[in-house]
Amino acid sequence: MRATARAQPNIALIKYWGKRDTRRNLPAVGSISITLADLFTETSVELDDDLLHDCLVVNDRDDPGMMPRISKCLDEVLGSDRPRARVDSRCNFPIAAGLASSASAFAAVVVAGAAAAGQPHNADEMARLAGRASGSAARSLFGGYVELTSDDDDISVASICSVEEWPLSVVVAITESGAKTIGSSEAMEISRNTSPFYDRWVGAQAEDLKTARDAISARDFEKLAAVAEHNCLKMHSVMWASRPPVVYWNSATLNCLQAIRELQSRGVAVFFTIDAGPQVKAICLPEEEVVVRSALAGTSGVSNILVSGLGAGAELVKQR
Ligand code: PMV
Repeated sequence: MRATARAQPNIALIKYWGKRDTRRNLPAVGSISITLADLFTETSVELDDDLLHDCLVVNDRDDPGMMPRISKCLDEVLGSDRPRARVDSRCNFPIAAGLASSASAFAAVVVAGAAAAGQPHNADEMARLAGRASGSAARSLFGGYVELTSDDDDISVASICSVEEWPLSVVVAITESGAKTIGSSEAMEISRNTSPFYDRWVGAQAEDLKTARDAISARDFEKLAAVAEHNCLKMHSVMWASRPPVVYWNSATLNCLQAIRELQSRGVAVFFTIDAGPQVKAICLPEEEVVVRSALAGTSGVSNILVSGLGAGAELVKQR
């Protein structure tokens, strides 16, 4: 009745921003991401008939704030008449700061929860269940390059290229380690309801997805870089034009963008992407990792650097 799973966060190259069904948490657009190797969340779920309510410990501390979302996620996986659960989670990178900690957290809970109950689920089903808790979590069930398609009725998720076929490196510049000021679900609804650019964003996504898919299958770094940066800046433009504006960037975010532009002008194969937080993710060829890391580490306002290769989807590590 106890199982432990490990999941890695993923970074979207073609972003998910906006929901078409808030009740079922269905994204308005498809997305393409890369799953990381070296950042992870490891979560144990223990089901106990004698327990009166669920409890959650994150990095050795009780976390009642996050508990309702974890409980709801376990209800989706096991049904609401399930035994109560003791959930113990550990994360080796900053939480709720735009590093996709919710993606790895919910992917790990779904895999551990299903295994603790001895319920077999395939990765596709688990991706749908994780997606109900956090849209990006669905992608962490798979490794390498992952596409989430938002179908008529639900989502479907698949790996479109393996890590071995195209290994890339990700250098994350941490510009602020505190939690973000506004959660992505709330911010997406503000954008949908108020941003004059929202419908254009949704309408143009199919073309960006196709360009990225083609670039990945041709291993065309320049083409992927161009579409990923453009897609990221469009998403943030949608946010900035919302009322109230949703601005996750700080001055160091812009300093990092400038540092990456300088690297690009010297011919370094690197591009940036930014999510719902001020951190900058630089994606580069593995042979450029050292130069990208040192340029970002020396950028004003950067407090820490994390480096990761691409990795596998969520997996079970222990069951008893
Ligand atoms: O999965 P959520 O609800 O945390 O939303 C993720 C949104 C972005 O990280 C900004 C984009 C993405 O596709 O991951």
